[in-house]
Amino acid sequence: MLYAATVCCASATAAEPWMNTKLPADERAGLVLREMTLDEKLKLVFGYLGADQASKNTKRPAPSHDQSAGFVYGVPRLGIPHLWETDAGLGVASQGGPNVRYATALPSGLATAATWDVATAYAGGAMIGAEARAYGFNVMLAGGVNLLREPRNGRNFEYGGEDPLLAGRIVGAQIKGIQSNHVVSTLKHFALNDQESGRTTVNVRIDDAAARMSDLLALQIAYEAGDPGAVMCSYNRVNGVHACENAHLLNEVLKDDWGFAGWVMSDWGAVHSTVPAANAGLDQQSGMPFDVSDYFGAPLKEAVLNGWVPRARLDDMARRVLRSMFEHGVVDHPVAPAPDTIPFKAHAAVSLQDAQEGMVLLKNDAHVLPLNGAVKRIAVIGGHADKGVLAGGGSSLVYPAGGNAVPGIAPTTWPGPVMYYPSAPLDAIRKRAPGATVTYADGADRAAAAALARDSDAVIVFATQWTGEGMDVSDLALPDRQDALVAAVAAANPRTVVVLETGGPVTMPWLADVGAVLEAWYPGTSGGTAIADILFGIVNPSGHLPATFPASEAQLPRPALDGFPYVADRRFETDYHEGAAVGYKWFDLKGLKPLFPFGHGLSYTDFTLSGLAADVKDGIVHAAFTVTNTGKVAGREVAQVYVAPVEARWEAPKRLAGFVKVDVKPGAGVGASVTVDPRLLAVFDATAKTWNVAAGDYRVILAASAADAKAVATTVHLDAAVYDVRGKLLRARTVP
Ligand code: BGC
Repeated sequence: MLYAATVCCASATAAEPWMNTKLPADERAGLVLREMTLDEKLKLVFGYLGADQASKNTKRPAPSHDQSAGFVYGVPRLGIPHLWETDAGLGVASQGGPNVRYATALPSGLATAATWDVATAYAGGAMIGAEARAYGFNVMLAGGVNLLREPRNGRNFEYGGEDPLLAGRIVGAQIKGIQSNHVVSTLKHFALNDQESGRTTVNVRIDDAAARMSDLLALQIAYEAGDPGAVMCSYNRVNGVHACENAHLLNEVLKDDWGFAGWVMSDWGAVHSTVPAANAGLDQQSGMPFDVSDYFGAPLKEAVLNGWVPRARLDDMARRVLRSMFEHGVVDHPVAPAPDTIPFKAHAAVSLQDAQEGMVLLKNDAHVLPLNGAVKRIAVIGGHADKGVLAGGGSSLVYPAGGNAVPGIAPTTWPGPVMYYPSAPLDAIRKRAPGATVTYADGADRAAAAALARDSDAVIVFATQWTGEGMDVSDLALPDRQDALVAAVAAANPRTVVVLETGGPVTMPWLADVGAVLEAWYPGTSGGTAIADILFGIVNPSGHLPATFPASEAQLPRPALDGFPYVADRRFETDYHEGAAVGYKWFDLKGLKPLFPFGHGLSYTDFTLSGLAADVKDGIVHAAFTVTNTGKVAGREVAQVYVAPVEARWEAPKRLAGFVKVDVKPGAGVGASVTVDPRLLAVFDATAKTWNVAAGDYRVILAASAADAKAVATTVHLDAAVYDVRGKLLRARTVP
């Protein structure tokens, strides 16, 4: 593909006062804004798709990068560069077409969340941000942190799971990593866009307090941890109002309550008005021609000239864009495409490490895994394991060097193509087992697969579930009769190992009959290698589930997904009656036993969690403990600290309040500690806009999952306290 020289902005502007890097970003934005004409300000708040759109007969702006997500004109005469926008959180994506750019794909967002390791999330963000920059982009539409409230959501693979603390911290670290490249990252999708069916028409009903303690808390934690330059409002309606013209969400929650000083961009096609949207807090329309009208083009100018949108508001919109550009180095470090400089090998290693950390060993009976040198005949079955590893579909799709390893699977167009990255597990397994005969069967013939399994001393069956943007799955079963394949293989050989490449939770009717299950998610560019490394114990698995795996859809707050199957243009409601009791909280509340609990993940060694001591200083809970490796190999354990009120009533019995991943050598014990964010001990008061901690006793639980039978606990007493909407102490109340 062609890359125009895009170095922006004459150096003649270098002496201008707003180019003084010593001044704060706000001041610089104010200085340059003063020089701008009305039309220049309007340009900054109007974005285009960076691709021709044949169906709408539109062409991309000439300076945009072809087949990219977005483009916004800057003001070159004042040294303000254009904004070149690329999707997304798993790497540099491309809009479909003949000229895709090849990039490194991270494992899915859920896989990264399953690492429970903020350093890994940061490293992945830094890597994809570097590729974005090298391709000439200065905005990355990454930072997806919609809560996994609905396991059938086709986009769960882009996000960080079901818990606000885990998802918020992981995605916040990724945003920080991306922005370390002077590339703005975009927190999205704001807010409550938790299903894809009817995503532009669904009306989500939830009360403010419940939202602030669930989906909004995940966004708030990611915002605080990552300091994103932009936030993307979502397609859906929330309590009757579209998110991109929802004054409560944008003006009140995001800007006033949280203090967000950057800009709000719309999702592509999520704008429905000019005056209501601008006055409700939307700062920039994105992706024309996706919307019905160019609301923030000529209509916004007319609205400003008529005073329907105050001039001060337009200034605020433009200032917010400029401020983030100064704050995050977009102006001072202009991008210039140099894709030849991308160190793809080193980047594949970053993706590999993420995949290795995030794979979750769900079951391992009788030490079926790791495979060792004694295995002589290995059967590898199904899941196109001879070719590659699966990726999720939609705008986040990263195209790999080498192309699609399994082309032609439907859908081949949006949200497809169904993509397999050319990192074949079969090749990697062969490399790890040079002395063994490794035979592949594609699984189409179940009897043949079973016969092969019977004759093998190790059997690895791959099962896949493709999910994508703009669609949900109808249920949690593996598609294409793969359950029958796994069952047949397991019946032939009970030591069968199942490797799952899924977008999110799936059900496993064959679970009792197999030896081991490894959840590999969508494992990214180096996925095949990562899988083999874990199967053979080169890497000890250390991922833990970032979401509950239900035993069946009947256990969910909505056994049937509202609005599914979607009928075009149908407006419908979904009632988030579970409120903040999302995921394991719902399962705890209802006393339900999931297939696998949130936080679960096995290792090739054994750990004990002990010596828990919790104390309270100035109302803040600290918990210290020891993680001991009682097994024979080194490993990494995720110690999880939950809190549970003894008297106070929460949305559910307990919440995750802290976590830490620690390396422990065999026989060693490592001390670790967590400090609890007081908002996780509080209930949000929507009227006073405070987080209120009730006086009383709270159990502090140290566990290796949300349903860990070996959990240990202690109790602390908390005085009543009130924290402001950002979690800052307002007053400690004495116990009455
Ligand atoms: C998605 C966004 C994405 C945008 C641009 C939309 O369909 O919801 O996540 O960033 O397209 O491609």
